[in-house]
This record gives sequence, structure tokens and C-alpha cells, in this order.
Amino acid sequence: MNISPLGALARTHTAGELTTADVGTEVVLLGWVHRVRDLGSLVFVDLRDRHGLTQVVARENETLVADAKRLRSEFVIAVIGTVVARAADAVNAKMKTGEIEVDARELRLLNEAKVPPFSISNEEAPIAEEMRLRYRYLDLRRPRMQHNLALRHRATMEIRKYFDEHGFLEIETPMLTKSTPEGARDYLVPSRVHPGEFYALPQSPQIFKQILMISGMDRYFQIVKCFRDEDLRSDRQPEFTQVDLEISFATEELVFTTIELLMDRLLALVGKSTPRPFTRLPYSEAIARYGSDKPDLRPGMEIQDLSAAFAGSSFSVFRDVVAAGGEIRGFVVRGGASYSRKDLDELTDAAKGLGASGLVWARNAAGAVQSSALKVAGEDTIRRALDTAGAGEGDLLLLAAGKHEPTSKVLGALRLTVAKTENLLDPDRFEFLWVVDFPMFEWLEEEGRYEFMHHPFTAPLESDAPLLETDQGRARARAYDLVLNGSEIAGGSIRIHDQAIQRLIFKLLKMSDEEAKLRFGFFVDALEYGTPPHGGIALGLDRIVALLSGEPSIRDVIAFPKTAQAQDLMAGAPSAVNEKQLRELKLRGL
Ligand code: AMO
Repeated sequence: MNISPLGALARTHTAGELTTADVGTEVVLLGWVHRVRDLGSLVFVDLRDRHGLTQVVARENETLVADAKRLRSEFVIAVIGTVVARAADAVNAKMKTGEIEVDARELRLLNEAKVPPFSISNEEAPIAEEMRLRYRYLDLRRPRMQHNLALRHRATMEIRKYFDEHGFLEIETPMLTKSTPEGARDYLVPSRVHPGEFYALPQSPQIFKQILMISGMDRYFQIVKCFRDEDLRSDRQPEFTQVDLEISFATEELVFTTIELLMDRLLALVGKSTPRPFTRLPYSEAIARYGSDKPDLRPGMEIQDLSAAFAGSSFSVFRDVVAAGGEIRGFVVRGGASYSRKDLDELTDAAKGLGASGLVWARNAAGAVQSSALKVAGEDTIRRALDTAGAGEGDLLLLAAGKHEPTSKVLGALRLTVAKTENLLDPDRFEFLWVVDFPMFEWLEEEGRYEFMHHPFTAPLESDAPLLETDQGRARARAYDLVLNGSEIAGGSIRIHDQAIQRLIFKLLKMSDEEAKLRFGFFVDALEYGTPPHGGIALGLDRIVALLSGEPSIRDVIAFPKTAQAQDLMAGAPSAVNEKQLRELKLRGL
């Protein structure tokens, strides 16, 4: 069979839509050979396109059967034939097209394909991610990736529709711009026209969206690429997509309602819904109860302060910690009393790896109290701790001692490890949480100065404004993060619209007037021309689509992602450029 031109042949149906209602219809299908099953006088060809699979059968006609036998996986073909009902014993109830097949009259080969480096039809076969990314065009043919990208498309369409309905304007902001203050490293682009000078790719449109509020745009949104040169993880890419928005005359309530209603629309795309309003938790409580600023609420297992149970106990290690202002903190694993010695040793090692000086366990098994600290603390104290924590028969209590925040964080990480092994992270449950009242600043020990926690345009809580001058470490911000199942999916704040406070913040950040002017001068100037109170937020689109589609990595919802080493393996980027380009950019001597 030779390669034929497409000619005037037009597709009548996709490979995902034919049902028994179409029996008797003459159809033309165009797509890829997914699988061929050669039964001698009968050849089955599964034809695949983005919409699904349709079984095609070549029978009786000798040339046709011979042509079908020559087909290989991933050849591109046209099928002309008639829809027929499958015999009852051949019906595939799992496929939408499983009750029919297309009786081919003609098969046309439109193109051949090399043998792919991995199977596209066998979704179960493990494929190294490096192979998937190198041959991304083949990986994207796989139904899983087609589904993910289709879901992403539906999500962006829904987002645009939603914001349009709510009076937002989509406005593009520049990609070649000036450094934005999101705390990561910039990607820089050298200027040919201004040798020695650089544009920065935006870490976010933050300054521009605030300027749009000063410009009277009232409500802005944008689905926008952002660039951050930071260490990569499964939920971080050097270029990623934000759903960015800003609202004039905003309050926290308005931002929260706007986002909660949007999330509900997005959940509906995967047949889910969520109760509103979402839970809200101050940052300090998130740390205390879950040891994280992005807690996963699904497993329960709240961390508690159990210091009182050890007050006056003979256990000197714990007593000393409390005397030095520390705390004994712990959480209960329901049914965890059955953990083996090996399990408990592993958890202890994990706690030490996270920086704890040790881990104490206690359990109530068959009426008897057992604990790694039974001898030193005594049965009464351990029983008191178990009772205070609410650990009943068959439960396990894990305890760590030390300063409030680091101890909570160690337990927070352990809590997630246990939740994973106990299968408490149900991917079908969507638990949203607003984390609010973040500290304005965090202390950088090494540099001996404060750094902003969100960005320097975030307003302080009105009640905490006086602290800016007296005790800035305690000042809280009108900043909020939206967390979904332990993943930070959005962050934003109510902004400073008063230039005097903005100047004070720069001063507190030890940013000299000259530096502030150099970095944000245009913005500070703009603030002086009638800035409305405003606020906003940006959502991480990649993370949201990953959670909606149940993918553990955002790479699986991005068509052409980078590796953990920030490379595009398919295109081969980054790459060296030629001397001429470097000279033009004055990056090499002439
Ligand atoms: P923030 O820095 O919190 O806020 O970013 C908003 C959201 O973007 C997502 N995100 C990322 N996703 C993938 N890869 C990355 N490297 C990455 N970095 C961030 C997260 C995050 O919650 N200008 C402010 C928003 C505002 O104040 O309105 C900002 O960019 O889901």
C-alpha cells in the first residue's frame, strides 16, 4: 500500500462519537493506528484520534485485508466504511464506541511512522519521564495527556467566561520588563539596543496590575505566563501560568467570594462541588495545628500542645524543654497502636532527619500503656498525655519537644508521611482553606534583616499598623493564600495605597530611597496620583489543573514542561548561541 494524498477526503465523524444510533451510516474517519490485531482472514484496527478510539474491521475483500495487515502502530490512515453493530459477545462496555465497529470498504495510508520509542497504546507500561519529555509529541498522543490538556483548555475557557460575566477586563502586560519583587531570581534578557542593559521576564504582573487599578480599569484579570529562576520541584516550573486578578475598592471578603465561586465552577468541570465559605485559618494557627502554612485538612490528626501533661514529670528532657520556653507537642494516629517497632524506628529517624532531637511514641494497647519514654516519664504521665491528646484504645501518640514553631513543623511533616502511608489523602476529596493574617516580614538570620513575606506592596492589618514602628516582627499582613489539599494554589493581598506607608515599608526593608526609586520609582510616583484602595490575588493554573485531573506533578498538565534541571529536552533548551548573536548583544568583545 502506497502513501496516498488526502485529496478532498473530509472527516465525517471523530473516532470518539459513533454509537448504535449511527449503524448503517457511511463514514470517513481520519487518525492514527492505535493497535492492529491480525486474525488471518480478519484484521481489526483500532483507530485513534483526540476524541477516542473506534474499532475498524477489514474482512472478505482480499486487497483490503492485505492492506490492513501492513499497517503498524502510529501510521496515519483514512478509513472509509459503514458503521455496523458488534456481535453481542464482542461489545466493549468500557468504550463509548464499544457497541459498534466500522466495516472498512477502503483503507488509505496517509503517512507511515517510525517505531515509537515507547508504546502509546499501553497506558500501563511505565515510561521514564526523560523519554516522555524528549519525545513529547508522542507522549501527548497518549489518552491521559490528551485528557489533561483538554481539561486545561476547558478550565481556561471557564475562567475567561467567569471573569467576563463579573465585569473583569483581560489586559495583557509586558513580558520584556523590569524586575518584579516576588522574591525569586529573574530571567534576564539582554538588550541589543542598550548594550549592558537587561529586561527581566516578569515573575508576576504585580506592579502592572496595581498600575491598572490606578488607571481606573476597576477589575483586571489575565491568564499569564510568569518566570522564576528557582529550584524546581513537582509543583514548580521556571515558566508557569497564573490566573492573575486585581480589584479596585476590594475587601478580603470580595476577593474570597470571587475566588470561591470561581473554584466551584472549576470543580464542576470534574463533576465535583464544594461547600462555601471555605474554612479560614490564621497563619499562626495553621502552624500550631498542622505544622505548615499550607495544611492538608484531609487527614485530621491535629497537632496539640501537651506540655501540661508533662509538667512536674520526672522526664527531665521534656521538663527542661518546657522550662526553657519550649513545648511538648504531638498528634494522634488513629489505629496506630499496631505499628511495628520497625515502623516506629522509621518515624523516629524521619523526625530526626527533619531536625527534631528525637521522637517519643506512646500507645494504649489492650489496656496497657506502652511508650518509648515509659521508664523515664512513668506510667501516670504517659497515661495523662494519651488522655489529654484524646488517644484511645488502639491509637498511637507521637510526641516531639522543642521550640513552638520548629517542633510544629517537624510534626507537620511527619503527619503528612503518616497520612500517606495510612491512605488518608483521598484524591477525590477537595478541601479548600484560606490561610490569613500572615506575618508582614520574616527575619533573615544570616543577613540580620527583615524580608517581606509576600511582597512589599502588601498592606498591614489595620490593627497592627502601629507595630510597624515598634515591633515589626509581630505585624501581620492583609495577605491570604488559598490552599487545596495541602497545595498552595493562590496567593494575594490587599495592597498599600497610601504612599507614606509604602515608603515606610521600603525603609523597614532597609531599602534606601535610591534603591526604591531605582527599582519601583515609577510605581511609587504613580501611587501619588489618586490610587484607589485595591487588592487581588493570583492563582497557580498549573497546580489547579493538576489537582483537578489527579496528577501528582504539574509537568503532566503542561504541554511542553521543563525538567527539574530547567531543560526542555525536546527542543534542547537552553542551548549555546552563536558568536555573532553574542557580539550583537555586546556579551562578547567585538
Ligand atoms: P505568588 O508568588 O503566591 O503570588 O504566586 C501565585 C501562585 O502562583 C503559583 N506559583 C507557581 N506555580 C508553578 N511554578 C512556580 N514556580 C510557581 N510560583 C508560584 C502558586 C502561587 O500560589 N503577585 C502575587 C499575587 C498577588 O499578590 O496578587 C504572586 O505572584 O500556586
